Amino acid sequence: MSDSKTSNAMWGGRFASGPDAIMEAINASIGYDKRMARQDIEGSRAHAQMLAATGIITDNDAKAIREGLLTVLSEIEAGDFEYSTALEDIHMNVENRLKELIGDAAGRLHTARSRNDQVATDFKLWVRTQMDAAIDGLTALIKALLQQAEAGADMVMPGFTHLQVAQPVTWGHHMLAYVEMFGRDIGRMRDARARMNESPLGAAALAGTSFPIDRHMTAAALGFERPAANSLDAVSDRDFALEFLSSASIAATHLSRMAEELVIWSSAQFCFVTLSDRFSTGSSIMPQKKNPDAAELIRAKVGRINGALVGLLTVMKGLPLAYAKDMQEDKEQVFDAADSLMLALAAMSGMVADMTPNAPRLEAAAASGFSTATDLADWLVRTLNMPFREAHHVTGALVKLAEERGCDLPDLSLADMQGVCAEITEDVFAVLGVHNSVQSRQSYGGTAPDQVRAQIIRWKEALA
Ligand code: ARG
Repeated sequence: MSDSKTSNAMWGGRFASGPDAIMEAINASIGYDKRMARQDIEGSRAHAQMLAATGIITDNDAKAIREGLLTVLSEIEAGDFEYSTALEDIHMNVENRLKELIGDAAGRLHTARSRNDQVATDFKLWVRTQMDAAIDGLTALIKALLQQAEAGADMVMPGFTHLQVAQPVTWGHHMLAYVEMFGRDIGRMRDARARMNESPLGAAALAGTSFPIDRHMTAAALGFERPAANSLDAVSDRDFALEFLSSASIAATHLSRMAEELVIWSSAQFCFVTLSDRFSTGSSIMPQKKNPDAAELIRAKVGRINGALVGLLTVMKGLPLAYAKDMQEDKEQVFDAADSLMLALAAMSGMVADMTPNAPRLEAAAASGFSTATDLADWLVRTLNMPFREAHHVTGALVKLAEERGCDLPDLSLADMQGVCAEITEDVFAVLGVHNSVQSRQSYGGTAPDQVRAQIIRWKEALA
């Protein structure tokens, strides 16, 4: 039935001729929706079982359908399946093959359902697998980050604002910032998964069905919490794909930010981190080059993922209820976004697990740029009971003096300091070191190694 001169075997009753070749080309989705073959067969097997349990079809027909569908699945998985564009999509390709295999009983499978609830069910099942895969990928990345955090809980590095050295922080603390971000991404995926887990199957074309189906039974068989409560909504809802894409976009944004830091950090100018050969590439012309291509590609993947979100939002915008063929344009970009996200997560996990922070270089950089100026101001407040605004001013004057002398704050003499503020004593030098600085930041969630270790323990318990 792949000849476009004849009308379609699945719906051609009222058609005298088949579609124009261009019509077939714009109409067909089999080129990509074959990725949902497994979900389509899972959904159809659950539907057939329910049709028999409710007496709508015979047990024998259901058995033939369910076994035949497994044969179709094994053909597809073995790569032996011949897809037909004339049969439009995965749903009709599978059903047509079922008919070739088991004969007339196959024609009873589509009782009490429509492709509208069928495609919504298949796509939901597929997106659900990707939410689970994203959660797994994010969890693996968090574990790699926790290992880095643990190994570098005491390692001092510069903390930046405006990409200017701000205050010393610890490597562990910086790694944990990403743990928090990816942790929220897991939360978003979980929330979306819980909200989407209602079965559209049995909504039929849009209005429900006159057959005495049991939607609770198919919902349970497919791992849904419950059937969707409104048949019009069930066939026209694509929120689950939008929520997956929006959660994916935010996760990809986090990946992109981290990738950007790795690109900067691995440059010769920064030299904060060495990426492994396994996650770097060379140049075909410059023999000395080692390029952070994986990081750059992760930084870029967010473009396609955001694009998919905006693309699907735009498809759905303004669509009247219930199903419209526009909605067939929901899949390709979601597939691409899911592939991009999983690959980016895997690449980032590998890079993080393999990378080596350059501790001496990080510590030297942490001490540059007057990074302990805030510690000095805090000392003035604590020791001399100076109002913070005044302490800020005095410290600013000391920074200016150090700049003039071409030295760092700890290199100023006590006499120099007392020239700016007579009450300053020798004790001030104790707070100007970077280790002292990070040790002192014991506020909850602060950069002190003890705080970092406490957060590592909390995360490990949360993941266990
Ligand atoms: N291939 C279609 C899709 O992806 C299946 C649903 C077709 N339904 C219809 N009424 N033409 O949306």
